[in-house]
Amino acid sequence: MGFEVAAVRARFPALADGRAWLDGAAGTQVPESVIDAVTDVYRSGLGNQGAAFATSHRLGGLVADARRAVADLVGAPDPAGVVFGPSTTALTYRFAGALAAGWRPGDEVVLTELDHEANVGPWARAAERAGAVVRMAPLDRLSGTLRTETVAGLLNHRTRLVAVTAASNLLGTMPDVPAIAAAAREVGAVTYVDGAHHCPHAVVDLPALGADLYVTSAYKWYGPHLAAVVAREPGLLDGLAVDNLRPVTGTARFELGTNPFPALAGVAAAVDHLAGLVEGPGARRERLARSMAGVVRHERGLAGALLAGLRDVPGLSFLPGWEEPAGRRAPTVSFRLAGWSPAELAGELDRAGVNAWHGTAYALGAAEALGIAGSGGAVRASVNLYNDSSDVSRLVEAVRKCATGRGPG
Ligand SMILES: Cc1ncc(COP(=O)(O)O)c(C=O)c1O
Repeated sequence: MGFEVAAVRARFPALADGRAWLDGAAGTQVPESVIDAVTDVYRSGLGNQGAAFATSHRLGGLVADARRAVADLVGAPDPAGVVFGPSTTALTYRFAGALAAGWRPGDEVVLTELDHEANVGPWARAAERAGAVVRMAPLDRLSGTLRTETVAGLLNHRTRLVAVTAASNLLGTMPDVPAIAAAAREVGAVTYVDGAHHCPHAVVDLPALGADLYVTSAYKWYGPHLAAVVAREPGLLDGLAVDNLRPVTGTARFELGTNPFPALAGVAAAVDHLAGLVEGPGARRERLARSMAGVVRHERGLAGALLAGLRDVPGLSFLPGWEEPAGRRAPTVSFRLAGWSPAELAGELDRAGVNAWHGTAYALGAAEALGIAGSGGAVRASVNLYNDSSDVSRLVEAVRKCATGRGPG
């Protein structure tokens, strides 16, 4: 049995409004099972973990379950390496503070133009405080890619950190993270990988990726608004100093205050939902690998159809990156249309029943490098597992109508 999109769509109540939801890069819808898991926690009784009674044991169990689920999702060897936080942005600020505590004036950090600001700003600020030097790896403007040799060329014995995305949320391109992480390891630098746009569109295997730390937001993969940083080796966390209260020990040192139990239950349910997308036997990790491979095939097919449909629309230009092979890009397509600002075009798509993003999508480095930051960015259509060919046709037809009609206003 393969991946069956019609059956999958029926599980997402929000899709019942009949719109084409092509904005998953900004946040996906959640299936009924996730909604149930979250509300069940409220219904079953709340409290806190660490007490003697059954409710407290159950809540503590939810935290452990959620760590195991995320470890399975990204192929991490040990759930003790999974740290939860409210968002990728919040967690990255937290890890920037923790890692920078070990930096000295003259140390260096390597950031990239391809990255979302969430994987740039926190490190740049931490470097400034520590007196460390920021080396910015430029994007290849023609291909929309970040070349491994560009990043490797910035590394030296003073480099402490390489912060790089595994997939651009604006261009879709996927840098060669294993090669970049290997080069960073050679000079003793830590690699912090932004998986926010990568995780929903890949079979993630943390050891193969080579990242020391990988961050992912559950609301991009059909879960609640919660994020996790996963350490490939939990021992890395032990060596970091973070501010927390004296009784807090272990992985929880990176998490401030009482856990969001309902959201954590939703995270585990979202992982279970992904694991069950393609039927078959095996432990959850094995089922996830099979299901996510099915998701990747489905999404690539739709992204290919989207590119093919938009390609000959008069006046349409894709942002660079669209010509990369499907295996080297996320199913995310950004474009501009002559005579239309991205905001006007997105507004027209809205009237045609299509949800699509517009602007720079916080990928400011890439938008500035491509010279589109000051002119409204681009329209972005992102494909997710619940999209089907009718969503793609609706977007293509609406854009074509704009291109051949009289224009906005
Ligand atoms: C690639 C990428 N990184 C980071 C973020 C920020 O995620 P969060 O909203 O969880 O802070 C996003 C969100 O759009 C993203 O797409």
